[in-house]
Amino acid sequence: MKKILDCIAEVIKPAFTACGYEDSYARVTLSNRPDLCEYQCNGAMAAAKAYKKKPIDIAGEVVAKLDGSPVFSKVSAVMPGFINLCIREEYLADIMNTMEREPKFGLEEIGSQETIIVDYGGANVAKPLHVGHLRSAIIGESIKRTGRFLGYEMIGDVHLGDWGLQMGLIIEELRERKPDLPYFDQSFQGTYPQEAPFTISELEEIYPAASARSKEDETFKARAQEATFQLQNGYEPFRAVWRHIMDVSLADLKKNYGNLGVTFDLWKGESDAQRYIPELIKDLEERGLAHESQGALVVDIARETDSKELPPCIIRKSDGAALYATSDLGTIIEREKEYAPSKYIYITDKRQELHFIQVFRTAKKAGYVKEETPMVHLMFGTMNGKDGKPFKTRDGGVMRLECLVEEINSAVYERIMENRTVSCEEAKETAAIIGLAALKYGDLSNQASKDYVFDMDRFISFEGNTGPYILYTIVRIKSILSKYREQGGTVPGDARILGAVSDTEKNLMLQLVKYNEVIENSFLETAPHKICQFIYELSDVFNKFYNSTMILKEEDQERRCSYIKLITLTKGVLETCIDLLGFEAPERM
Ligand code: ARG
Repeated sequence: MKKILDCIAEVIKPAFTACGYEDSYARVTLSNRPDLCEYQCNGAMAAAKAYKKKPIDIAGEVVAKLDGSPVFSKVSAVMPGFINLCIREEYLADIMNTMEREPKFGLEEIGSQETIIVDYGGANVAKPLHVGHLRSAIIGESIKRTGRFLGYEMIGDVHLGDWGLQMGLIIEELRERKPDLPYFDQSFQGTYPQEAPFTISELEEIYPAASARSKEDETFKARAQEATFQLQNGYEPFRAVWRHIMDVSLADLKKNYGNLGVTFDLWKGESDAQRYIPELIKDLEERGLAHESQGALVVDIARETDSKELPPCIIRKSDGAALYATSDLGTIIEREKEYAPSKYIYITDKRQELHFIQVFRTAKKAGYVKEETPMVHLMFGTMNGKDGKPFKTRDGGVMRLECLVEEINSAVYERIMENRTVSCEEAKETAAIIGLAALKYGDLSNQASKDYVFDMDRFISFEGNTGPYILYTIVRIKSILSKYREQGGTVPGDARILGAVSDTEKNLMLQLVKYNEVIENSFLETAPHKICQFIYELSDVFNKFYNSTMILKEEDQERRCSYIKLITLTKGVLETCIDLLGFEAPERM
């Protein structure tokens, strides 16, 4: 199904050509003056220059040709040369009926099986998930779902940080605590135990302890670095510990991400890129793309057009160690080999901006990625507390994700229990659903690149631009529909959505027709906040319609069925959108 703006443009094109003007002037936009009209065409202004005429004269000629059109209820030329357009109720109703009939409400699948890699989540193994990882997970999940809905082959990869110093720190801390483990006995000949020598809660305690120790104890730090080096060079006992860390951590990560409604197709990480690195370095050296600089191996990426000086991409440090950028390049080589994606999307915070410029430019310079393949780095801002500083726990620590989710859920739970209409059990389940919506919508409704304030009271409010408000609207529609069914209402198969009879009903339809354009743009611009804005407005116009219309008490049977179909469509669109944002609505709330 075509987008509404294009449909309307198609209708006025012939009017332009009939008057002797090119039809490219027939572009249509939403009206700037909703009090006067619904859409407008500014083409007469541009045409005036080309045809050396007064804009208002051109507008007048075009308007005359549109007289009696089945699409417009009113067309007028206004100074200095705008063409104001009002849509006929029947035309809008036709679109509603098409949306209602077609799969995905008439959304066109623009993806045609193109493969896109979405690199998001980015958790670091053995370190607890904290709110910093929250944004990446939430935004990435939504982009992946939206792309998939549009017919793209979306591959979500968590790209774990699983190859760094934290591993050496854990190994050495473990040696301190459990020196008798076979991994530390150099003469050990047997096979290593299947069972990990720690639980997830121990592991969560080991890492911070080790990290703190390394800050005070230089020799401990050096040992951890040495252990990391040995691990990276394939020392089997440490590989065995590493596998335990991975198993225990991954199970926990999967659970945590799962609770957030976030899933990945690939659970790869930096460690998977390592096997490509020796070849990669050799290639860059042999082709003269990398050169020595102060003992390190670097690739120049600066361009004349850069507004600030960009440092080269470091491929290998002077001590021979590979770096974060090297892992990312290795990962790109693997992704090209296995998936040949037509686009990459990486989602991290703003602080990694330079890193990704360096990696992308190196990948293209070396020809690992085709020049025309878009590599997008979607950078997000910080989630701040009410004090405007990065969000912390009450005692100033880093807030763990689980705790944050728990806090929201219990705040929502209390709110639900204020009314006490449901059992504790049901209230708990509902609170978890609403809490997730509050958290995700609170994040996604901001333009990703901006910082935002985590304001629990606002996020969980049932009014205003919040997740719970959207859910509340969906639940309201569900309850009207179930009441309709209880009263024995059924919609005959040939029932149709009729032309609107009130402004609020027309406004609801005018909002619904934007749906396909919003979904497409939100994906192409990697901007989930556009979906949020759309459903916020949709909820608003729906609630206004609801407040001004007797839906179930409508006497005219045909009209009542039309209302039921219209609100069912509204519910479907809202539910689809929240699914793309990564949450769902409860049955009641
Ligand atoms: N693990 C990284 C971090 O916590 C994020 C990984 C992002 N993805 C990537 N391909 N570099 O900062």
